[in-house]
This record gives sequence, C-alpha cells and structure tokens, in this order.
Amino acid sequence: MRQATLHQLKVFEAVARHNSFTRAAEELFLTQPTVSMQVKQLAKAVGLPLFEQVGKRLYLTTAGKELFGTCKELFEKLSLFESTIADLKGLKRGALRLSVITTAKYIIPRLLGLFSQRYPGIDISLKVTNHERISDRLLTNQDDIYVMSQLPQDFDIAIHPFLENPLVVLAPRSHPLVKEKNIPLKRLADELFIMREPGSGTRQAVQKLFDEHGISVRVKLELGSNEAIKQAIAGGLGISVLSRHTLTSESMNREIAILDVEHFPIHRHWYAVYPAGKQLSIVAQTFFDYLMHEGKAIAEQTFLNGL
Ligand code: PGA
Repeated sequence: MRQATLHQLKVFEAVARHNSFTRAAEELFLTQPTVSMQVKQLAKAVGLPLFEQVGKRLYLTTAGKELFGTCKELFEKLSLFESTIADLKGLKRGALRLSVITTAKYIIPRLLGLFSQRYPGIDISLKVTNHERISDRLLTNQDDIYVMSQLPQDFDIAIHPFLENPLVVLAPRSHPLVKEKNIPLKRLADELFIMREPGSGTRQAVQKLFDEHGISVRVKLELGSNEAIKQAIAGGLGISVLSRHTLTSESMNREIAILDVEHFPIHRHWYAVYPAGKQLSIVAQTFFDYLMHEGKAIAEQTFLNGL
C-alpha cells in the first residue's frame, strides 16, 4: 500500500461510487485508459484485484469493498482537516503554549486577557516557572513562545527585547537603611538575606554582582517564590533582591521599601524568545505580533504607572 497515491485512491473511489470507469473518467476530467491504469496500479499496490467484471457489470471484490470503506473515512477526515485549517487561518481555533519566568506573571496574564477576548477560540496554556526550567523547556521545544530575562548560551534563538526588568533591594519599611541614600554595597553583608532558589535567574544575577565586588551575604532563608519572599521581608525575616515588577500590590508597598544601594537596580530585560528557525504556528505568530506591539505598549504603561 506504500506505493499507492492519494490520486489513485480518489480515482478508485469515483469508479467504485459510479460503478463505472466511464463515468468516473467524466467526473474527474480524465481519459478512460488513464482511469483504468490508475486503478490497475492501485490493485498492484494492494496485491489483490479491486473489481471484477461479470458480463457488462462491474463489481467490487471483497478487497475493493474494504478499500472503498477506507477511502470514504479517509476523505471525510481530510475534508475535516481542511476545514480545521481554514478555521486556523481565520484564527477561529487553535492552541497557544507559553512559558514565562516568575516575574513576568505580573504582566503576561493581563495581556492575555485582551488577546483572548479578541480570539476566543484560541486555548492558551501558560507555564510560569524559573529561569532554569524555562531554559529546559526552550531547549526541548515544549512551547511556542518564552518570556525570559537570562538568555541561554550555545543555543540558536530568535531574541526580541520586550520590557525592562530591573532588580531592586527590598527591605521592610521599618528598616533603618530605608532613610539612607546611596548605601554602599558592602553594607548588605551585615544584613540577613532572603534568596531565591538555585536555578532562579534573579539569584544568578544577584550572585554575579556580589561575586564581582567580593561580597558574601548571609543567606538566612531560601524561598522558591517571589510572593513568599515579599511576605518574609514584610514579616521582618530579612532583606532581598527581587524584580521591580513584583511590587504590584498597594498594600504590600506600604510594608516594603526599595533601598537606594549602589550598583542597583541591576538592569535586566525580559525577552520574547523562540528557537531560531522554528516556524511559528499562525496562532503563535499572531500572539507574538500582538505581544511585541500592543502588548509591549500596555506593559510599558503599566510599568511606568507602577513606578
Ligand atoms: P527567576 O527569573 O524566576 O528565574 O528568578 C526571574 C527573572 O529573571 O526576572
């Protein structure tokens, strides 16, 4: 059957439906010898005769009947597939898979709201996780688009800067350093520190800055969530470095302050990323265009309002 072509199946189906080579040839605008030849080749590929001629009448053999049933199913499925593709082209249906780093969860879901209203037939899956896991997902091509700060090395990717993602030092409002200006970096060595988990991009960026200046801080607590860290800061467990984007809720801002420490903020960016050479689906491309234009404008405005 491997040698059979879709064209041969179409010809066969027409002959079987009309029970006639002549009428099939007319329907398909082919000559009768061409039709006979196609059916003959198909029978050869199947390995059994498909028709038998008794007198002037044409009958399907058992193999022919089986193949006729299979053709009907196949062509039904193909036409369903064609209409699905037509819907996709009109973006009536589809799936979008996104992975974003923890800090982007404060913005991306908001942008998805508007996108989803515009394209209600698109189902969205959004994975929010840390730098290391996003990199793994990118390397194994698990999603359509990734939003991340720290770009993986040695992997060919298409990179599009999306928004600033500055890292700031956060302390409880009652902390004595809150009133100070231009605090020397080494003063942080005297503080109890709350740190994100290994594998976090935030942690790597902080560690890099401290290493460059030969500073080692006392890590009192390690937490895998920006929200949990903010609660711990508010609760007086220590100070930490987090993305400015994590400071979204008014009530939290009453309890937490940004310290004016030298070398801060650490300037970083979010990037929208996908493997170079990946052919984005129509849905993914539409979301990507939305993200880089309207989405970016909304995110910039939201960020500026929050400052
Ligand atoms: P992280 O990444 O969640 O891995 O710390 C956050 C960021 O890089 O902004």
